Amino acid sequence: MRIVVLVSGPGTNLQAVIDAVQAGELDVDIAAVGSDVPGCLGLKRAADAGIATFTVPPADYADRPEWNRALQAAVLEHRPGVVLLAGFMRILDAEFDAAFEGRMVNTHPALLPSFPGAHGVRDALRHGVKVTGVTVHLVDSGVDTGPILAQAAVPVLEGDTEEELHERIKVEERKLLVETLRGLSASR
Ligand code: GRF
Repeated sequence: MRIVVLVSGPGTNLQAVIDAVQAGELDVDIAAVGSDVPGCLGLKRAADAGIATFTVPPADYADRPEWNRALQAAVLEHRPGVVLLAGFMRILDAEFDAAFEGRMVNTHPALLPSFPGAHGVRDALRHGVKVTGVTVHLVDSGVDTGPILAQAAVPVLEGDTEEELHERIKVEERKLLVETLRGLSASR
C-alpha cells in the first residue's frame, strides 16, 4: 500500500509509522511526506528516514481554494493509494476530500463523535469527561465526521493538564494508527 502522509507539527505519529515500516512490521510504502508548515519537525523526521518531502505553505497562494488545489496536485504526484493525515492541522476543501474519498485516513485525539475540531483534548478536559481517547477514521466532507475505523480509550486523571493528557493519548494514538494501517494494507 502506497501512502502519502501530511503533517503540520512534531510528527511523532509519522515516526511511529516510519519505525514500524523499518522494523518490517508494517507493509506500507511511504511515498512522500507533505506539510503546510515549512521546517516542521515532521518533515525533518521524513528527510532523516530518506523519504521524499514537499511543502505547500498557504502564504504562497492567493486564497484557500488555490492552496487546496496546489496541495492536491502535490499529493497526486506521488500516486498514493491512501493519504494519511497525521497531525495535519488544516481543513481541506470538498474537492480535495472528493479526490481521495474512502482512502484518506485521519487520526483525532478524542473519542469521536465527541469533541471534534482542532482542540479535542482541551474540549474533553473542559467538559470534565473521565474517559477520552483517540479515533482513527476515514475522512469525509465534514470535520472529523467520517466512518470510524478504530478507537482506543484513555482515562483522564485527576489534575491532568491538556499537555499531560494529550501525551498519554498520543502513546495510544501511535499504536492504534500503526495497527489500523496494518489492517488497511492487509485488506488491499
Ligand atoms: C495528534 O494527537 C493528532 O491527532 C493531533 O495532533 C497530534 C499530532 O501529533 N491532531 P504528532 O505531530 O503526530 O506528534
